[in-house]
Amino acid sequence: MTESAPLDSTSTDAWKKLAGIAEGFTPDLRGWFADDASRAERLTFQAADLTVDLSKSLLTDEVLALLLELAQDAGVAARYQAMIAGEHINVTEDRAVLHTALRRPKDGAGLVPAKGFVVDGQDVDGDVHATLDKVYAFAEKVRSGEWTGVTGKRIATVVNIGIGGSDLGPVMVYEALKPYVQAGLECRFVSNIDPSDVFEKTKDLDPETTLFIVASKTFGTLETLTNARLARQWLWQRLGSAGAITDSDADRTNAVAKHFVAVSTALDKVAAFGIDPENAFGFWDWVGGRYSVDSAIGTSVVIAIGPENWQGFLAGFHAIDEHMRTTPLEQNVPVLMGLLNVWYTNFLKAQSHAVLPYAQYLHRFPAYLQQLTMESNGKSVRWDGSPVTSDTGEIFWGEPGTNGQHAFYQLIHQGTRLIPADFIAVANPAHPLKDETGDGHAVEPGQDVQALYLANFFAQTKALAFGKTADEVRAEGTAEAVVPARVFSGNRPTTSILAPALTPSVVGQLIALYEHIVFTEGTIWGIDSFDQWGVELGKQLALQVAPAVEGDEKALEAQDASTKALIVKYLELRQR
Ligand code: F6P
Repeated sequence: MTESAPLDSTSTDAWKKLAGIAEGFTPDLRGWFADDASRAERLTFQAADLTVDLSKSLLTDEVLALLLELAQDAGVAARYQAMIAGEHINVTEDRAVLHTALRRPKDGAGLVPAKGFVVDGQDVDGDVHATLDKVYAFAEKVRSGEWTGVTGKRIATVVNIGIGGSDLGPVMVYEALKPYVQAGLECRFVSNIDPSDVFEKTKDLDPETTLFIVASKTFGTLETLTNARLARQWLWQRLGSAGAITDSDADRTNAVAKHFVAVSTALDKVAAFGIDPENAFGFWDWVGGRYSVDSAIGTSVVIAIGPENWQGFLAGFHAIDEHMRTTPLEQNVPVLMGLLNVWYTNFLKAQSHAVLPYAQYLHRFPAYLQQLTMESNGKSVRWDGSPVTSDTGEIFWGEPGTNGQHAFYQLIHQGTRLIPADFIAVANPAHPLKDETGDGHAVEPGQDVQALYLANFFAQTKALAFGKTADEVRAEGTAEAVVPARVFSGNRPTTSILAPALTPSVVGQLIALYEHIVFTEGTIWGIDSFDQWGVELGKQLALQVAPAVEGDEKALEAQDASTKALIVKYLELRQR
């Protein structure tokens, strides 16, 4: 345990002054822009390929200066340096936190810490690159057709079986980088222990051309191991009924060897499952599940997009890591966005935070961020075990625009809650389609559809920031009785993130950006953003309740009255 007791941020001058400002704070984005012609320029920042506009935030210069003072007081920059150097900042598990090491380039020029740094006796760079090379070699074999199934057919479908960080990252990145997927290859993702998940994902597959990747850091997760056994059972049955294997142990073992690989930190458990450790890719306990997409956990995606694109993906992470490490706080995008979230959460009392990608391929990004942000910062004690002194962990949620516009944006525009929102867009779509005919009035023939899409992106942040006054509504000839319903208060904060295109690098940059936003907020709050004890109780109780759900009388009697009654009802309803 190397971390000193956290600073109580609420005791700092900066916090107290911010609290004072927050009392009676009346944001005025219209006025702020009118009074300051340079506001947009001053509050727009660059991090690698990401242009980030904070000018439509509820920030004044005074607030920003105090937030930066808070970051100084809490030692955000120093703690980041400690993290990347391998100090055990995951105090409750007494572990280093080194996801940034997963994307350090092989050549090592100018790296900090220097290439070859050793943490707890481990050559981190050496191990990371040895594993990457192994994953790349395997991926090339699958992509080229050199790796075949048990009947000699090349692999067409890769099914990743994992949950949480062993699922959400790979599925999100696979979806985001679909245009980079090799023709003839497809990935699917099984995560839920609901038997319908594995059923639906395998029902139309050819077992001879299917490869399963069992992805589990611990290789002890109930959902993943159950699904892995169901998949193995499916493989044996389907290969058997196709006459490809007999039910001899030798045939079954051979089928598993050709159709199952694993990713885990627990290679002994991988072997016990029957997967040849030769076909297992490791990682280390210093990679948290939700920070592991760029480790071997991403093997399914490496197969799909290829090692070269994967290297671009890793380079994107590293570019943001370097930005975080070297950029002064006042220009440091993840720090600024993290501080802004603290301002909204702790001072303006926002409860949630929307993430709204204007890029359909990013449709799983909000779900991915839910684990990253909420599993990391949903904590009530600080890293020294003392209670937190302020609110932590806002609720992240979202859907791609424009779909969200026709669903929940009403509440963001005119509801009673403050919902800061991050709008994310790319300038160049993967498929630059044109509407050749147009609609005869509003949409001209030959209209670039991406322009129409981004017109929505720009229009939404504008509407949220500047609203519409009663006089503006009246000027449109609106009947007086309806005017209040058509007024938009404005001053609803947004951050706009614009990238050139959804390349592998940009996807890596976006993930790293949010990882470091989480880090910044966690540091201010004094919490360990790298453990997840809150998930454990439910896991334990599920195992404890399971016999009761199977009808064991004694186990049923041991339940509380509500749980017992629910299980009894379930048993009544259940037909076997
Ligand atoms: O949900 C808890 C958790 O431990 C996550 O942090 C993790 O990503 C997930 O379960 C899956 O764990 P594993 O990769 O060990 O199967």
